[in-house]
Amino acid sequence: MKTLLRIDSSPRKKSSLSRQLADVLQEKLETEVGYTSTHRDVYYDELIKLGNEDSISAYFTPEEQQSTAQKEAVKASNILSAEFASADAFIFAVPMYNFSITAGLKAYIDLIARSGISFTYSENGPEGLLKGKKAYVIITTGGTKLGTDVDYVSGYMTTFLNFVGITDIEFINSDQIMTDAKKILNQVKTEINELILK
Ligand SMILES: Cc1cc2nc3c(=O)[nH]c(=O)nc-3n(C[C@H](O)[C@H](O)[C@H](O)COP(=O)(O)O)c2cc1C
Repeated sequence: MKTLLRIDSSPRKKSSLSRQLADVLQEKLETEVGYTSTHRDVYYDELIKLGNEDSISAYFTPEEQQSTAQKEAVKASNILSAEFASADAFIFAVPMYNFSITAGLKAYIDLIARSGISFTYSENGPEGLLKGKKAYVIITTGGTKLGTDVDYVSGYMTTFLNFVGITDIEFINSDQIMTDAKKILNQVKTEINELILK
């Protein structure tokens, strides 16, 4: 059984365009590849919170030496990083907020990037541990053109995914949506439906 982890990162629910596009892709991946999906919704999931003294210091403390407070604080990161490491493929639905990813997605990434789980330090520097996985990254923007100097989403997502060992990345760009939302959404939905899945 191949597992697909979908990560939504728009605070909007009903009117979110990245969610609409992720729905189309998720359905295609489930029907055509046979993935079983799980889901994290970074703004609505009680596990996803900013780090604090206890959670971050727990990252650097062996489990048997962690205080009760550290153990409690690092629980969410333990669950989320193990879940992320066990998935075969990912859909990231990524709205651009102020030229970058949303704060909720950054908080989630800070919880799943864990030494010994998603990356390790080798003689040659950091090395990703999550090899052989596939990531689909759907980016929506209002007015900013992706691929320009002010796009801090595409490069960041590539760097982060590569850092944890994921190099097979398919970007689905839905940018400058405010110029003609209906037309662009339909174009991108067609693009998703025409994707050749491996
Ligand atoms: C707080 C905020 C910041 C935004 N910043 C940008 C931005 O820097 N560039 C841009 O093109 N669009 C920006 N937008 C527009 C969103 O990227 C656009 O509405 C996108 O569709 C949001 O994704 P969603 O529909 O899934 O919620 C911003 C929207 C909000 C609410």
